[in-house]
Amino acid sequence: MAPTTRNTEERVVSMKERPEDRSLDAQLRPQTLEEYVGQERIKENLKVFMSAAKKRKEPLEHVLLYGPPGLGKTSLAHIIAREMGVHIRVTSGPAIERAGDLAAILTNLSDGDILFIDEIHRLNKVIEEVLYPAMEDYALDIVLGKGPSARTLRLDLPKFTLVGATTRLSLLSSPLRDRFGSTFRLDFYSHGEIERVVRRSARILNVSIAPDAAGTLAQRARRTPRVANRLLKRLRDFAQVKSDGSITSALALEALQMLEVDALGLDEIDRRILSVIIEKFKGGPAGLNAIAAAVAEEMETIEEVYEPYLMQIGFLQRTPRGRSVTDSAYQHLGVAMPKGA
Ligand SMILES: Nc1ncnc2c1ncn2[C@@H]1O[C@H](COP(=O)(O)OP(=O)(O)O)[C@@H](O)[C@H]1O
Ligand SMILES: [Mg+2]
Repeated sequence: MAPTTRNTEERVVSMKERPEDRSLDAQLRPQTLEEYVGQERIKENLKVFMSAAKKRKEPLEHVLLYGPPGLGKTSLAHIIAREMGVHIRVTSGPAIERAGDLAAILTNLSDGDILFIDEIHRLNKVIEEVLYPAMEDYALDIVLGKGPSARTLRLDLPKFTLVGATTRLSLLSSPLRDRFGSTFRLDFYSHGEIERVVRRSARILNVSIAPDAAGTLAQRARRTPRVANRLLKRLRDFAQVKSDGSITSALALEALQMLEVDALGLDEIDRRILSVIIEKFKGGPAGLNAIAAAVAEEMETIEEVYEPYLMQIGFLQRTPRGRSVTDSAYQHLGVAMPKGA
């Protein structure tokens, strides 16, 4: 396959959810805070908030979760519901098209229930405004009639908890942001944490993986549990075809090479983004739109999916004038730094 025909959806290290992940996610998703690896500070805080709410017999305050895709926002929302012993209703910003859709969802909740709105930055303004009194006063304002004779009717809502998730906190309006009782940023995981995710998933999938193979996989999983699980599944398939089904170190290396995932978890598109900035823009700064055009990807995808990890490993810097690659990126790609750079 020619490199240029490859898009984000096909990448094995894409952090975004893909159809193949759904059954895998259901199997591997941690069910309790105990099982949820890492993000210690968030877990500590949530434990306190949840037990305080339970003691007061009140609903949990609204929670906003943000961070790059695949780090565990959706999992955390489900865990909160389970630990609070309440139902969760799952929807997303783009799925709520009319104010009436949201009103129907809200009026069908029970006291204490969780409403999980994924991609909450994509809610439209009109709907956001329905959400304000709902979040603040557990009330729904309905406008009856039109023109001068219009009246507003206030309906009481069950005392629910909104859990919002977003990859793009900056796109959330500040009135909406302010209405959350707590806001948590999910961070990339440490190498050790990803190894724990890999070992846990291997146990659940009943596949044997050598300790150094788990280490190699963790190294290349972009510090992201979703990517770790997907790579594990690929290695499992590979092991079933090529050997007795157990993942040895040699087999892991061979499979990862075949998948074109390099030692830092970068794939062909990451390398292309870096190369483009080096070759076409002398290492930067280069504007996001110019980079996007040169690699034939959408700006939003680059910003949301690729850049966070490239910045995390110190290969890319965002400056007011655009994106620049760093010395480490030159070294990783084996390209000589331009003189005087
Ligand atoms: N902290 C964690 N511990 C163990 N597995 C995790 C953790 N976070 C995420 N995962 C795994 O990664 C998958 C993707 O996580 P998800 O919650 O869907 O991420 P997000 O909603 O942030 O995109 C989950 O199905 C789960 O298997
Ligand atoms: Mg999610």
